[in-house]
Amino acid sequence: MTSHRMRRALWAVLLLLALLMLAVYLGFFRSSSVGADVEQPLSVDDMRQLLPRGREMAAAADCFGCHSTPQGPLAAGGVAIGTPFGTLHSTNITPDPVHGIGRYTRADFHRALRDGVARGGRNLYPAMPYVFLHRITPGDADALYAYLQTIPPLAVPNQPNTGVYVLPVRGAMNFWNLLNFPKREGIEGLAAPPAGGPGDGVGEQSALWTRGAYLVEGAGHCAACHTPMNFMMGTNFSRHFEGAVIDGLQAPDIRAATLARQGYTVDTLTRFLRTGVSPQGTSFGGMYTVTHASTSELKAQDVQAMATYLLTGADGWAAAPAAVDAGARAKEGGVNTDTPTTPGLAAGRLQYISACAGCHGMAGEGIPHVAPAMQGNAALNNSDALNFIKVVLEGIPTQAFADNERMYAMPGFAEQLSDEQIAQLSNWARGQWGGQSADISAKTVGRLRKK
Ligand code: HEC
Ligand code: HEC
Ligand code: HEC
Repeated sequence: MTSHRMRRALWAVLLLLALLMLAVYLGFFRSSSVGADVEQPLSVDDMRQLLPRGREMAAAADCFGCHSTPQGPLAAGGVAIGTPFGTLHSTNITPDPVHGIGRYTRADFHRALRDGVARGGRNLYPAMPYVFLHRITPGDADALYAYLQTIPPLAVPNQPNTGVYVLPVRGAMNFWNLLNFPKREGIEGLAAPPAGGPGDGVGEQSALWTRGAYLVEGAGHCAACHTPMNFMMGTNFSRHFEGAVIDGLQAPDIRAATLARQGYTVDTLTRFLRTGVSPQGTSFGGMYTVTHASTSELKAQDVQAMATYLLTGADGWAAAPAAVDAGARAKEGGVNTDTPTTPGLAAGRLQYISACAGCHGMAGEGIPHVAPAMQGNAALNNSDALNFIKVVLEGIPTQAFADNERMYAMPGFAEQLSDEQIAQLSNWARGQWGGQSADISAKTVGRLRKK
């Protein structure tokens, strides 16, 4: 081939590639998982009947948690979501015809949830978790639609986005979706555990598993925080529930074996999700929002279903919950008789006694309505010390839990304790009650301090 012909061939390939990219950008490869039957509007009667189910689904998916600012009006949007490329805002989903979704037809609404496409064909950004919400059944999507039509319409304009989001980049989401939103099946696509376990398709346990899978993998969008992301900020489904850092805290590994190792049972995990308080600790950070606004609002049986699903490993039931050895050790010895011989750890024990024991108890046993136990607490029993150190540095603001449970606020110790002291404290407490090795250095703590 002459170099002239080579160049022509190269140009042809480039042109073809460019056309292909243009086709993707224009959405030629997008398909919809919304059936034609939803083009038909719902009758007023149907809508009325669907209301209670719609209210439950809105709680299960925490629509209002994302679509309302903490003190702001319900569902009027405006929650800022920071990304490396700029700030996005959630939008007004009240039935206001101008600023909200008052003009959404039933089908428009289904496409927003199930395809990630807003009314008028605009691609939504995946900060709207359609990658998970698409699992919501058409019946439940109808219920949500009916319910959202009944909340007060508010003429609150949407906040402008910043960064790359001011550019016409919505078309680029077609590339993103091609790579990150390939699976469109419902929960039937999930690997159910084999016979004998709760997911074998027989009996009450199986019904719980299936319901739990639907809520956890669909509306609950738990993977949005608990599954690591790939470099495109898409969910890395091959590392499902292995844990990820989100907003500076770790959304921990919540695979069945890990939860069982931390001592969770269906009963205590149900309690954690339903009330935010369990023997494994309280919910805080992003998880507090989940327990407070979403899982505490669900029917008890639905929450039990979620716990059943989460504690079911690929091989049927998860291993029986393990007693935390270190916790047992603390119970026998107590903190006062168990002075470590390593100077750093001995210093850590003294920090604990002077700064923490007043609320968390001398033996880390916790004090009812004051503070949770450190013994058996999952935040200490986590091989990653991030949450422990962050909580000690920054504290946790006063939180209200279900069943009128209130505790003190967890104070932050950034001012009182040096990096070295917090490292010693972490090493001692995580060793004492979490069975973790003493591998935290002052440098690690320093890096986590708010600058
Ligand atoms: C994790 C946060 C989050 C959750 C949970 C969430 N949304 Fe959204 N939603 C967003 C964001 C952010 C946008 C704006 C995306 C954009 O601008 O592309 C959005 C956009 C939308 C839109 C498009 C509105 C428009 O601009 O036309 C609809 C409809 C919607 N959400 C409905 C819901 C419903 C119903 C639920 C609950 C089932 C829900 N959302 C749950 C974050 C969320
Ligand atoms: C004034 C009482 C008080 C003191 C002092 C205190 N804590 Fe806490 N701590 C709490 C409360 C209350 C919570 C739970 C807050 C919530 O979730 O709303 C908590 C939560 C925690 C958590 C998160 C685990 C969980 O289940 O929520 C850790 C870790 C923790 N404390 C460690 C410490 C350490 C280490 C010290 C000493 C440096 C300390 N605390 C001092 C009251 C206290
Ligand atoms: C907004 C992000 C976010 C979402 C969404 C989220 N979580 Fe979490 N989750 C966290 C963070 C952060 C923590 C760590 C703080 C704590 O323990 O409360 C956590 C902790 C947990 C824990 C305790 C784990 C441990 O080691 O003790 C469980 C169990 C859990 N989440 C389950 C769920 C389930 C089930 C869902 C879906 C219904 C969910 N999470 C949704 C952020 C999230």
